[in-house]
Amino acid sequence: MTKKQENSDIRAAVRKHYGAAITQSSKGCCGSGAGTPAGGSYAHLAGYTPEELATMPESVTTFGCGNPTTFAEMQPGEVVLDLGSGAGMDLILASRKVGPTGKVIGLDMTPEMIKAANDNLRKAGIANFEIRQGEMEQMPVADGEVDWIISNCVINLSPDKAKVFAEAYRVLKLGGRMLVSDIVTHHLPEAVRKDIAAWVACVGGAVEEDEYIRLVKLAGFEQVEVVDRLIYDEVSIKSMFCDSTCCGPQPISLDTRPNSLTEPNIGSLVGKIASIKLSARKP
Ligand SMILES: C[S@@+](CC[C@H](N)C(=O)[O-])C[C@H]1O[C@@H](n2cnc3c(N)ncnc32)[C@H](O)[C@@H]1O
Repeated sequence: MTKKQENSDIRAAVRKHYGAAITQSSKGCCGSGAGTPAGGSYAHLAGYTPEELATMPESVTTFGCGNPTTFAEMQPGEVVLDLGSGAGMDLILASRKVGPTGKVIGLDMTPEMIKAANDNLRKAGIANFEIRQGEMEQMPVADGEVDWIISNCVINLSPDKAKVFAEAYRVLKLGGRMLVSDIVTHHLPEAVRKDIAAWVACVGGAVEEDEYIRLVKLAGFEQVEVVDRLIYDEVSIKSMFCDSTCCGPQPISLDTRPNSLTEPNIGSLVGKIASIKLSARKP
């Protein structure tokens, strides 16, 4: 199989997974099934404050592994682009920072997610937004169109991360900032890397932190800094990928449940999966 075909297959699996995940009931786990409602325990693990969660429309679901807007000094009037915007939670939070004179743009390749985000932002009373359908490896965004790029647990899913960072650099204004929450791994077992279901669950495609930083710098970014790091313990890994709904006696029905992330081997992954917050600037 050619690399191009392999990448296209990965994107198709990711699209299928998240299309199904957002249309399922919101009960379940993040990576391997449905997302977590804004009030769910995983949302707190991702770093959303109770105040942020309390003001979300009930239908908002998060599939994130962080809260990139918490470390963003966005100003009123600025333009924010969210790569892989999902159901729109971070767009709602960013919109509150840039205000009615600013704008938030979501980018996602999954039609079901785009519909959910449009519905959720309308419910949240936000007018200054646009959700674009497309791939982050070739963004439907003009050169220098945005002041900020945010992304929450998405770039790990791309089979061509160098292209994503090159595109991010292109669409940012001079001096623009990129703030990313994402998964990185450390000596992940080959079996997990090769498991397409682990890939769509945000683990299999995640690279080592040093490699992540190298790719960001390769695109031209400066002031590349990991500002926070959460190494998942066993409980976190379980709640993220394998809560009782997924791995218990009644496994979820999605055909993308990771075979390599079953209950017995979760313990062996402790110390190998982390969520980072990374900040970078286009000079
Ligand atoms: C793990 S979810 C995260 C969603 C959202 N950021 C959140 O925090 O809830 C990944 C999202 O990225 C989108 N996605 C994955 N790969 C993509 C790509 N190559 N281009 C555009 N969107 C992508 C998926 O459709 C999905 O909505």
